[in-house]
Amino acid sequence: MRVILLGAPGAGKGTQAQLIMEKFGIPQISTGDMLRAAVKAGTPLGLQAKGIMEAGGLVSDDLIIALVKERILQSDCNNGFLFDGFPRTIPQAEALLEAGVSIDHVIEIDVADEEIVARLSGRRVHEASGRVYHILHNAPKVEGHDDITGEPLVQRLDDHEETVRKRLNVYHAQTKPLVGFYQNLAAEGNKNAPVYTRINGVGSVDSIRKQLLSVLS
Ligand code: AP5
Ligand code: ZN
Repeated sequence: MRVILLGAPGAGKGTQAQLIMEKFGIPQISTGDMLRAAVKAGTPLGLQAKGIMEAGGLVSDDLIIALVKERILQSDCNNGFLFDGFPRTIPQAEALLEAGVSIDHVIEIDVADEEIVARLSGRRVHEASGRVYHILHNAPKVEGHDDITGEPLVQRLDDHEETVRKRLNVYHAQTKPLVGFYQNLAAEGNKNAPVYTRINGVGSVDSIRKQLLSVLS
């Protein structure tokens, strides 16, 4: 099964991706996590991406498309994968189509902008695994520490309010048009058109997980 989770920054893509990945045994492919790993490792890609990410902009389509094409060739993707944070521009979605990568489901997790700002200020992450927590809504068992490794949690550099607002603007301008893109694909009767579903992303993590599972089952 091949799934795209679409949604604004902070909509809960990473949180839900972790749960779906466990349930269906398919890997989560988060371009954000891959880029953060590259920044941390100081690779040439990381050096190019660092400033753009900290400012809340988008890394170039060419770099992202190359990164994803290489990733999906790995053997753990043989039974499918879950894209989290990709595609996020029309050229990225077109590149997938042109490469013949068919997608079964596009699921949009819908959360209003005001809610996003509050969510992201309380987010804490385990850098090595990408596991995500929230100080109030999804708290770790031990404050400030990852549930599985016990290692310290950190705040992302792009979670400051000003940068979050910039990321939201970028989302509305460049990523939200993908809704129309995928809906048109289905309306045109394209045989590779995925099933498009929008779910309400406000509510408990568990209630959203249930909505996602009912779409995918
Ligand atoms: P990326 O890492 O993809 O960030 P994003 O899309 O901005 O999304 P987030 O990770 O912020 O949010 P999320 O939806 O995963 O929410 P989460 O589950 O963490 O990208 C980062 C940067 O990399 C981009 O800005 C760009 O520069 C670059 N980049 C990445 N991909 C790219 C691409 N394809 N092209 C170009 N550039 C790219 O949840 C958020 C918080 O809310 C957490 O604290 C969580 O615990 C909490 N929460 C989750 N669910 C709920 C709930 N139901 N109720 C209350 N709180 C909740
Ligand atoms: Zn994420």
